Amino acid sequence: MKRIILVGFMGTGKTVVGRRLANAIGFRFLDIDSMIEKREGSSIASIFQEKGESYFRNLEKKMVKEVCDLSPSVIATGGGAVQDPENRKILKKDGWMVCLTATPEKILERTKRKKSRPLLQGGDPMETIKKIMIERSEAYADSDFMVDTTEMSVSKVVDTILHVFKRNFPNH
Ligand code: S3P
Repeated sequence: MKRIILVGFMGTGKTVVGRRLANAIGFRFLDIDSMIEKREGSSIASIFQEKGESYFRNLEKKMVKEVCDLSPSVIATGGGAVQDPENRKILKKDGWMVCLTATPEKILERTKRKKSRPLLQGGDPMETIKKIMIERSEAYADSDFMVDTTEMSVSKVVDTILHVFKRNFPNH
């Protein structure tokens, strides 16, 4: 096991949890969306707006391959990265895949203040969240471990993952 992969819907805390988890284990932390933003010199929202979603998905796919050459690491993926079966396969190879979940209501609450989620702009965000959640349910369920973050603090989520990680990989 060379890396921990955090997957899950927007607003489930992948970035904040991933950073703390990496610190606790002594792995490097890699955030795919931040790496894309750095490389493009542009925010995810601007990339979606100016170049479109399929352009973003291509960048995401390239970055998935790149981050899997760097280890050991904790990797935070963007919410849609694992919808692509090939991405999932690459990420799962030598990786322990942990999915963070939350109810649609909680996700709406956590994402509504930010304009950084292009997929939730325009239309009824609650409807969009529920629709995308159904579309991705199989991909997320393909994870090795799931944590429902709805009522949990970030520390509690990190502790829960750490506990299972140490039990499963005592000699990581
Ligand atoms: C997306 C989630 C975002 C970002 C992009 C697309 C998605 O990442 O990759 O806006 O398809 O769910 P977060 O899950 O970190 O918000």
